[in-house]
Amino acid sequence: TAGHPLKVMIAGAPAAGKGTQCQKIVDKFGLVHISAGDLLRAEVSSGSEAGRKAESFMKQGNLVPNELVVEMVKNRLSQEDAQKSGWLLDGYPRSAEQAEAIQEAGIKPDVFILIDVSDDELVERVTGRRLDPETNTIYHMKFKPPPDDVVDRLIQRSDDTEDSLRNRLATHHKNVEAVVGYYKDMLVEVNGQRTMDEVFAEIDGVLSAFTEDESPAHQR
Ligand code: AP5
Repeated sequence: TAGHPLKVMIAGAPAAGKGTQCQKIVDKFGLVHISAGDLLRAEVSSGSEAGRKAESFMKQGNLVPNELVVEMVKNRLSQEDAQKSGWLLDGYPRSAEQAEAIQEAGIKPDVFILIDVSDDELVERVTGRRLDPETNTIYHMKFKPPPDDVVDRLIQRSDDTEDSLRNRLATHHKNVEAVVGYYKDMLVEVNGQRTMDEVFAEIDGVLSAFTEDESPAHQR
């Protein structure tokens, strides 16, 4: 393991496969997965005031205002599990302002992974996606078919429509370059247009090399 807990950011267009890869990364490296989208969806289900405000932005595929997002993510990152085991931040930062805010708080990743997938492929990934609310497993009707005994309880996300996807994509294309600009020194671009296992093999290589690189120096 690394001399210090590994800190990883993962970015990419909507439905590029961030959540899918995060599940695999967590299984192997034991990092704490912090998904801005999941935190917001939990807030929405809780029925809190913040959740009610966030909900309409999310349904339409627009970014939720920073005042609802920035503190929420910073708080989650500062908790003991993430500090101790390392973290995997998914879906944040999504704008230059969000990158700036986290930088000001002294938070920087060791690795910034950007998953690349073409827009055409994303439409098919979004429309076929299904989620298991009991296990949080992400399925796809064609690319990762669910087993028969869970099919009846699967749900579709309310923002997985073509209209909402178009907004989410436009926002992504508008902001991604500015965000990546903050993390040029630790940027790793991964071709996401391969099988889930092939994509993970590459990410695994990057993170393993990183953790193995670190330990000899610390043992010296
Ligand atoms: P968020 O939840 O982050 O959604 P997103 O970025 O649109 O990403 P997704 O979760 O849709 O996709 P993913 O990349 O995880 O893909 P997945 O692995 O599921 O954000 C939702 C909303 O919350 C935002 O629109 C915004 O409103 C708000 N929000 C979030 N963060 C915010 C922030 N920082 N600031 C402000 N607002 C914020 O894969 C997709 C499908 O493809 C699955 O079915 C999967 O099985 C399949 N698949 C995955 N990989 C492959 C592969 N290699 N080959 C074939 N199929 C694959």
